[in-house]
Amino acid sequence: MSAQTRLQIPVRPRRLRRTPALRALVREHNVRIDHLVAPLFVVDRSADAGPIGSMPGIDRFTVEGAVEETGVLDALGIRSVLLFGIPENKDAGATANYDPNGVVQRAARAIKKAYPQVLVAADLCNCEYTDHGHCGIVTPEGDVDNDATVELLVKTALSYARNGVDVIAPSDMMDGRVRAIREALDAEGFTGTAIMAYSAKYASAFYGPFREAAGSTPQFGDRRTYQMDPPNAREALREIALDIDEGADIVMVKPGLPYLDIVRAARDRFDVPIAVYNVSGEYSMVKAAAANGWIDEERAVDEMLTSFVRAGADIVITYFAKEYAARRGA
Ligand code: PBG
Repeated sequence: MSAQTRLQIPVRPRRLRRTPALRALVREHNVRIDHLVAPLFVVDRSADAGPIGSMPGIDRFTVEGAVEETGVLDALGIRSVLLFGIPENKDAGATANYDPNGVVQRAARAIKKAYPQVLVAADLCNCEYTDHGHCGIVTPEGDVDNDATVELLVKTALSYARNGVDVIAPSDMMDGRVRAIREALDAEGFTGTAIMAYSAKYASAFYGPFREAAGSTPQFGDRRTYQMDPPNAREALREIALDIDEGADIVMVKPGLPYLDIVRAARDRFDVPIAVYNVSGEYSMVKAAAANGWIDEERAVDEMLTSFVRAGADIVITYFAKEYAARRGA
């Protein structure tokens, strides 16, 4: 076809997709390793350490193992970890959670000692510590008692702060917990300890692999009376507004992929940093599909992490952190 017979197309967006350099030049969003947080499962008993069947590539670590893993992550440029404790003993009152020698307390001390520059966040919840697997104190009727649970969370948050945790991340979804934790931290002089609130945390099927990893599946009922109902979006913004008002420094949306609309809406409305949690089920789906040869794992992960940044998240908590950073180069 000669030049004269070409169609008259005044704007040709394909022009800017022609070469890798051009595409890189006009790329709107980039995932930064600095903004990734690696979750770490830490066990009390060394017999509980090792690979997690439902999450290929992810291990449960002893305290010593968690320190070592933090060193590996730090060398790769991952500067923040999020601790999950898996205690030896569970009971109705989650007492192991505020034990000064509890697993999170020991892990935080050991990590901060070995790698003081690494930011240590700790998930604050009771489901790994209760024998019934719910996130708080259960009433005789089988409901989770909000205010009694908040008191327990405050006690544990203080214990975490005393042991060097930099960021407390309450994931229980009790009402009023952020204010109670903030006031207690300030009263003890921990004014520099930040709160990253799981503000819009949905009752999701995507936590399945985590519950196997942490042994925290509820023994009866489910979490729908405290975690959010998936169809609700306005309510998420209300939860986030409440947590900011109560003193949250960072707010979180969880899970990630099915709730990107919430991340975007939160970004447009609020000015605090927004975290998104790319949860266990999102991780395991990609791993399983890739293991079957159904998707290209690296491209799928790139696309997924980019979607969080494009939706407006500042912080991405992801089990892919280590592999992604290793691939990108520190
Ligand atoms: C604790 C907690 C859970 C997750 C983070 N904190 C489990 C739950 O609420 O059932 C899920 C994380 C994941 O799936 O990766 N409440």
